[in-house]
Amino acid sequence: MSAATPLLQVRNVSVDYVTDYGNARAVNDVSLDIMPGETVGLAGESGCGKSTLAFAISNLHGAPALISEGEILFDNRDVLKMSPKALRKFRWNEASMVFQSAMNALNPVITIGAQITDVILAHKKVGFGEAWERGEALLETVGIHCSRMTSYPHQLSGGMRQRVVIAIALALRPRLIIMDEPTTALDVVVEREIMDELYALKKEFGFSILFISHDLSLMGEIADRIGIMYAGRLVELGTSSEILSSPVHPYTKGLVASFPTIHGPKVRLEGIPGNPPSLLDLPTGCAFAERCSQRTEICGKAVPDLVPYGSRIAACHALGPKESAA
Ligand SMILES: Nc1ncnc2c1ncn2[C@@H]1O[C@H](COP(=O)(O)OP(=O)(O)O)[C@@H](O)[C@H]1O
Ligand SMILES: [Mg+2]
Repeated sequence: MSAATPLLQVRNVSVDYVTDYGNARAVNDVSLDIMPGETVGLAGESGCGKSTLAFAISNLHGAPALISEGEILFDNRDVLKMSPKALRKFRWNEASMVFQSAMNALNPVITIGAQITDVILAHKKVGFGEAWERGEALLETVGIHCSRMTSYPHQLSGGMRQRVVIAIALALRPRLIIMDEPTTALDVVVEREIMDELYALKKEFGFSILFISHDLSLMGEIADRIGIMYAGRLVELGTSSEILSSPVHPYTKGLVASFPTIHGPKVRLEGIPGNPPSLLDLPTGCAFAERCSQRTEICGKAVPDLVPYGSRIAACHALGPKESAA
């Protein structure tokens, strides 16, 4: 595959949750590419559809979620059209996922070693001895001593358990790792250690990452590009520095202003007033209009298209030709 071919192409994907009150469109016409070796961040307030999109990418959805539209191409194969057998091979081998609460998903009555080797044995034609050795090497890779293979999950700290989950995600050398709030449940010191580990692993193995977080400062450290979601839609997508240093969408501006910068002067942080709209009752126009200080008449009438502004894309009626020339 040439470097110019995306590893993952999310094309016009919409996902609905079928509820008693109607369909809630949690992901709305989202398109996004991830190149080989690239880290793409996905940020936005809780409930904006990040996890729903992550699940869609690995075709992990079941009722009440319904992937209503779109294509998800991994290496030009549509993940949404894969047979159950092809999907089993795709997950873990080619794309793996690390969830926020994944550390609690480890089986409490099975040793760490048995859980890692299980994944290897289920997918690779190797004997138990070799799988165990690979497991030990994987633990070392994520900074855990190989003697921990015989520990049970409760004998490890939360941070160590999350590292084990990352080790399992790496076990089959996938080309894409989807990380959904991988460190949100951990304290900041452990979070920092795991992020450092992740940089090193990425350097060594060269996989792509879809890094989902509500924490923009954390994301800025690891992501090459960042996409901002609001009420199920992608509203801005650009390089990390474009998004963090010169956001153009009013929602991105608000989100960036509500996070402290690690360096830079101390400033009063501003939140975004109001709440996102109900997905069951989305407004006719821009979903952010009600909270937006730059709204004009058109904002209540039409959903803005996602269009290029320089090298980024953004969806906002208020962005005029001046921004597009930038
Ligand atoms: N099982 C479900 N049934 C109905 N609605 C759901 C379900 N799961 C998530 N949602 C809704 O979908 C929207 C997006 O959720 P989610 O993808 O979890 O957002 P995020 O990960 O950005 O916090 C939210 O409004 C949430 O309430
Ligand atoms: Mg989520």
